[in-house]
Amino acid sequence: MCGIIGYVGSQAAGPILLEGLHRLEYRGYDSSGIAVLNHAGVLAIHKRAGKLADLTASIEESPDGCIGLGHTRWATHGAVTDRNAHPHTSSASDVVVVHNGIVENFRELRSRLQRSGIETVTQTDTEVIPQLISLYQQEGGDFLTALRRTMAVLHGGNAIVALTQARPDHLYVARNGHAGGVVLGFGEGEMFVASDLPALLPHTTRIRHLADGEIAAVTAEGARIWDRSGATVPLEPLQVDLDPVAAMKGQYRHFMLKEIMEQPRTLSDTIRGRARIDPPSVELADLPMDDEALRALRRVLIVGMGSSLHAAMIGRTYMERLAGIPADFDNASEFRSREPLLGPETLVVSISQSGETVDTLAAMQHVAEIWKAPQVTVCNVEGAQSTRITDGAAIYLRCGPEVGVASTKCFTASLAALYLLACRIGIARGHLDGPTAEHAIECLLATPSIVDRMLEQREAYEALAARFAEAEHMLYIARGIQYPIAMEGALKCKEISYIHAEGYPAGELKHGPIALIDRRVPVVAIALRDALYEKLVSNIQQVQARGGTVFAIGSEGDEQLAAGAAFFAPVPESDPLVAPLATAISAQLIAYYLALARGADIDQPRHLAKTVTVE
Ligand code: AGP
Repeated sequence: MCGIIGYVGSQAAGPILLEGLHRLEYRGYDSSGIAVLNHAGVLAIHKRAGKLADLTASIEESPDGCIGLGHTRWATHGAVTDRNAHPHTSSASDVVVVHNGIVENFRELRSRLQRSGIETVTQTDTEVIPQLISLYQQEGGDFLTALRRTMAVLHGGNAIVALTQARPDHLYVARNGHAGGVVLGFGEGEMFVASDLPALLPHTTRIRHLADGEIAAVTAEGARIWDRSGATVPLEPLQVDLDPVAAMKGQYRHFMLKEIMEQPRTLSDTIRGRARIDPPSVELADLPMDDEALRALRRVLIVGMGSSLHAAMIGRTYMERLAGIPADFDNASEFRSREPLLGPETLVVSISQSGETVDTLAAMQHVAEIWKAPQVTVCNVEGAQSTRITDGAAIYLRCGPEVGVASTKCFTASLAALYLLACRIGIARGHLDGPTAEHAIECLLATPSIVDRMLEQREAYEALAARFAEAEHMLYIARGIQYPIAMEGALKCKEISYIHAEGYPAGELKHGPIALIDRRVPVVAIALRDALYEKLVSNIQQVQARGGTVFAIGSEGDEQLAAGAAFFAPVPESDPLVAPLATAISAQLIAYYLALARGADIDQPRHLAKTVTVE
């Protein structure tokens, strides 16, 4: 969850590290720090609890030196204090480390260090790493051997960057397990390391993700990589097609708003070149399954966490309706805990915009190891860890970096990707014939312009938010394929506005939650004119009869619904299967403007991080 940055080259490292941390601050942001080694072998460490701005303000003079590392922290072990902030050093100050992940056996390792006469001085799990490397070096052995020994005794998923005075022109990078991705960036006569692409993109688009068990020695000239057994691994850098400007806020006040506004384009990009009307077909270049393999499937299971789980819920309906195949969804973390029964005839679809969410990766790993079922991942980051578990089987979202902690454009793009996959399976299995496939694809192709029209109304949401910013609780209700949007709306609302919100299937309301209704608890009701409309209208009346305030998200032109609601968000006519892509926009705008009206820190909400790499 933390952000990591490293630099070695001929430029001053300090400003590059701070700028990189600025781009990574969305990953974790309760403390930050940098370490820079100068030409005389003197190490300067600056670290501070609080926002990156606090660190920057505390550095009076930029440290001298062309090699260094930095970190932005999301605390897991130990309070948010200057001392617990990264980088961490060995007692002998000869090894400096920044770390992402959790050292699950840190207590045991701490005792081992104590038995060797080494006392740790922070409350963190991380500190055992530099201490162990230093100890193993003292026991005889070069830095690489000491690092390898250290990585071998750490339990849990961990990624680190280390610096040592013994090799002042080297950064060492290592990764164990799935928690904490780390990427090398190849420049001209300089090298970069980061936990995430946005920090590398201003410098280079030639990258190399480090895989589980790999260790890299990085100098200004390039890198060498070894696997867990010590064998050299080919570098094979990847050229990524990402625009650095896309990772910046531009004219927008927040990344979240920028990313909400980008959705007509990100949807077009996700669909572009994959869906065709004449003849109706879907082509997914990175899905290595032919028609025969798709016909052999008996079931589809979709897993994810948070917003990606809500996309999975809608994906189930797509599989049932468009692919004509039994389907289910599961929370990735619960999926693994309950030891599910699968089989090789089940296609497991994982959704993770980052491709680094540890719960989702663990579920995928479980499927790969125990069931050997075919897998494909829906992911926004080329070469991310999830795509390694699937051996490259992926549907990429093509959204560009999503920086706002609240997922927006990747959520709607995930829906489009699942829809495409369902059409692909449905066509292969003969569930969609020519005309029905054509209709389904036409409906999807219409979504960017529907979303565009939803966004045109954003000022109305701002006005609504100003009126209801004092609310402390909210309910979201919907039915059928819109129910996951109620869940998503409530999640967005909790995440960024800190209003307590819950999403319910509208039929569930009278089984308990209705007891909460009074005029201070606004109810967002999604009531489009689809097959479930009348039932939803009855639920809305039940709320209003108890003095509840209703924000209705309804079909354009539904005067009756609009008349009874405190706020009415019209949704342009669309096929019910693609309508969640439109109503998701309402859910995002309600949350965004409520948070704005409440003065919340929208891109960096408290306690959260963009990429969740701890279980
Ligand atoms: C969404 O707004 C959240 N920040 C969060 O629920 C997120 O969707 C979840 O952590 C999964 O992330 P992933 O798609 O990168 O796996």
